[in-house]
Amino acid sequence: MRFVVTAGPTREFIDAVRFLSNPSTGRMGFAVARAARAAGHEVTLIAGPVSLKTPPGVTRIDVVSARDMLNAVRTVIARADVLVMTAAVADWRPAHCASRKLKKTEMSDTLHLVRNPDILKTINSLVGSPRRGDRLSARSASGPYQMGLIRIGFAAETGAPAAEAARKCREKGLDLVVGNDVTEPGSGFGTATNRVTFVTPDGTVQRLPLMSKLAVAHRIVSFAERRAKG
Ligand code: CTP
Repeated sequence: MRFVVTAGPTREFIDAVRFLSNPSTGRMGFAVARAARAAGHEVTLIAGPVSLKTPPGVTRIDVVSARDMLNAVRTVIARADVLVMTAAVADWRPAHCASRKLKKTEMSDTLHLVRNPDILKTINSLVGSPRRGDRLSARSASGPYQMGLIRIGFAAETGAPAAEAARKCREKGLDLVVGNDVTEPGSGFGTATNRVTFVTPDGTVQRLPLMSKLAVAHRIVSFAERRAKG
């Protein structure tokens, strides 16, 4: 299968030297890319600014902002079978970005923000959401986009993630949401491990034990492989 995986944070620049972002390091997304490649799949990894090495055999596209990430996903999604959105996409960006460094005296105390596009929702509007059970026929009838694209999202929460993961699963039309509590030891940004909860559209909640991000990644790839078989 062909996997598209997003990873890391996005940066939303205020001027030439200042930006808004988050602590994502990209480890989870790079682990998914590595696991998918190791399982014999073709993988395109779309990475925000991170300092990780590209896993062997993986095609990497580097991006900076949420809008860059959306454009990159749009350019590759037509050929994809699976989209795994591990990226911590910034929800907002400054309304204006100065091309040079602003002086303190030129900046105001308030920053005017505008909403970034939601990448998963935008892709849904391009690809459509096949009814459950229609996946195999939708795939064989695919036009420019894979109607049967398998969509996997993440929900990094502060607190028990299941309820929010279920909401995101519904609202974003996902096949799987991988939730975690970033305040839990071993499950935060940049850790080598993660304790995740898998939530699927039928309401099933599967709590996995603490394990390496690579082990979580293999579970995600296996889920996608099973889902592709119907
Ligand atoms: N996501 C996306 N586009 C965005 C923001 C998030 O595609 N602009 C994706 C993330 O990559 C993740 C999923 O949506 O797979 C959930 O992201 P999250 O930030 O947890 O959710 P939000 O939609 O931002 O919801 P909220 O702010 O209410 O938690």
